[in-house]
Amino acid sequence: MCGIFGYIGKRRDAAQLVFESLKRLEYRGYDSWGVGVVPLKNPGLSTKIIVKKKVGKIGKSTVDNMPSSSFAFGHTRWATHGGVTKTNAHPHLNGRQNIALVHNGIIDNYQKLKQALLKKGYRFVSETDTEVALHLIEDLAKKMSFPAAVRRAFKQLQGLNAIIVINTKDNALFAVRNGSPLVIGFGKGENYLASDATAIGPHTKEICYLGDDQMAVVSADRVKFFSVKSGAEVKPKKQKIDWQIEEAEKGKFPYFMIKEINEQPKVLLNILNNFDNDIRKLANKLKKAKDIIFIGCGTASYAGIAGKYLLSIIAGLKSETISGSEFAYSKKHITQKSFPLFLSQSGETIDIVQSASQLKKKNIKIGALVNRLGSTLYRLADTRILLGAGPEICVLSTKVFTAKLAILMLSAYYIRRKYSQGKRNLQVAINQVKTITSDSYYRRYISKLVDKLKGKKSIYVIGRGLSYPIGLEAALKIKEVSYIHAEGFAGGELKHGMIALIEKGTPCIAYAPNDETYLDMISNATEVKARGGFIIGISHKNHEIFDWYIPVKDCKEATVIPNVVVVQLLSYYLAVALGYDPDKPRNLAKSVTVK
Ligand code: AGP
Repeated sequence: MCGIFGYIGKRRDAAQLVFESLKRLEYRGYDSWGVGVVPLKNPGLSTKIIVKKKVGKIGKSTVDNMPSSSFAFGHTRWATHGGVTKTNAHPHLNGRQNIALVHNGIIDNYQKLKQALLKKGYRFVSETDTEVALHLIEDLAKKMSFPAAVRRAFKQLQGLNAIIVINTKDNALFAVRNGSPLVIGFGKGENYLASDATAIGPHTKEICYLGDDQMAVVSADRVKFFSVKSGAEVKPKKQKIDWQIEEAEKGKFPYFMIKEINEQPKVLLNILNNFDNDIRKLANKLKKAKDIIFIGCGTASYAGIAGKYLLSIIAGLKSETISGSEFAYSKKHITQKSFPLFLSQSGETIDIVQSASQLKKKNIKIGALVNRLGSTLYRLADTRILLGAGPEICVLSTKVFTAKLAILMLSAYYIRRKYSQGKRNLQVAINQVKTITSDSYYRRYISKLVDKLKGKKSIYVIGRGLSYPIGLEAALKIKEVSYIHAEGFAGGELKHGMIALIEKGTPCIAYAPNDETYLDMISNATEVKARGGFIIGISHKNHEIFDWYIPVKDCKEATVIPNVVVVQLLSYYLAVALGYDPDKPRNLAKSVTVK
């Protein structure tokens, strides 16, 4: 789940360019960072690769003291093997400082490879799996050309990996991938490599996604592609980045999280006005399927659960949900008559990519709701809908979650032949989100509540029916960004255990929308209040049982959208009030590309 970036070209400040680009990849992992350069040749002076590494976020660091160079690479780390130390940070450099490597992924068989290299006398300075790849290449390069050594070494690595390797002789970046994403950016007299397109967008719109088991040799004036297995030259498809660079910048906002929360009306309006064909396509697939399975991880899995309720409530269609990390243990019943629909913002979440690949191997056609053009899931899917939410940089998923809810709700209404009614409900929800993201709403309903909750140890969220998965997502947002323990429950499960957690002042958010769950939710809130709970009611009307009332207008089933936005905002302001970085919460990363 690391971010890797490489540059080669006409600029003389390659270290600076790489450094700035790592900032755009930092949401992929921010335990430590590093930049490596091949200094401009100094006749008579043997060239050594110069590396700068630091523990922690990039923050106010600089690379001003790094030598001029026209080619460099870098890495931002999410530690898997080896603690968060400077030595374990990438790039990893060999003893003679003439080969360096950055890596994203996990080398499953690194212990075995390491033993063989230790027997050959190679000295390891770090605890990482990565260093094995470095010394393996170093060893093979003694017997063959460097590109052949990189290819041969990569073939010995088991697991899902992407690496970039440089040496002091070849004016080129050697990049190889299998599983972990790698994008190439094509410039004029310069070229770029990155874990995802957000870091390449500021420099060029022309890109291509490196395929599995492909190697790219990137020099300033050309990029050549080879199959890792055969060594034969291959030609990946070029494509254009489909978003504007401003979309990947904070603009006037202090953090990406609040920017992306505020982008939701625009994202949802785009779906309302421009997704008729996609909705029709998805609805027909859902209607024809013998059985429908929603598969996602984290927030995406909650969108799947909401999808199940939306299809049942609106279209009377049965479906099931499986979380991506549990898929491997419960997939036997899925056949070619099934319609597995994968939900993913990044399209690179490993449990999703592997589950999709397993079904593809069984010739089962899959669907995908995905936000990243060219991502692995996007390329694997037979029926794919791009969510069009633009880059989502904050680790917490917000606008992509509500985009999924909107598409699933409209698809259900399309199946029920009441599509225009569904669109009307979505329009009401969009207007409600505009109200909820306004300063006056924040001042009236959110800011003082933040003061009340920021010192709390636990916050519970209850909802019934369609509000149950929204309660799960609301609790996840609070946990992810404020580090306050939070749990979402089905309101009806209260008396079966959860209510034991309630004591005087325990905050409990109760979703009580204007639907068949309203009365039962009010009774549940009353039961919690009776044990001393502090009831925060999110509802279309106030009620005496609420200690704190947050109004959300009734938008029929689309009420799920403004209902989750309220707690997205609450979570954001809790994080800010507690002095935490809402964009890069501790221990998390934007897309989980390792098992
Ligand atoms: C959500 O806020 C989290 N970042 C996380 O749960 C995320 O939804 C999950 O990792 C799935 O990511 P994906 O949508 O990119 O597959």
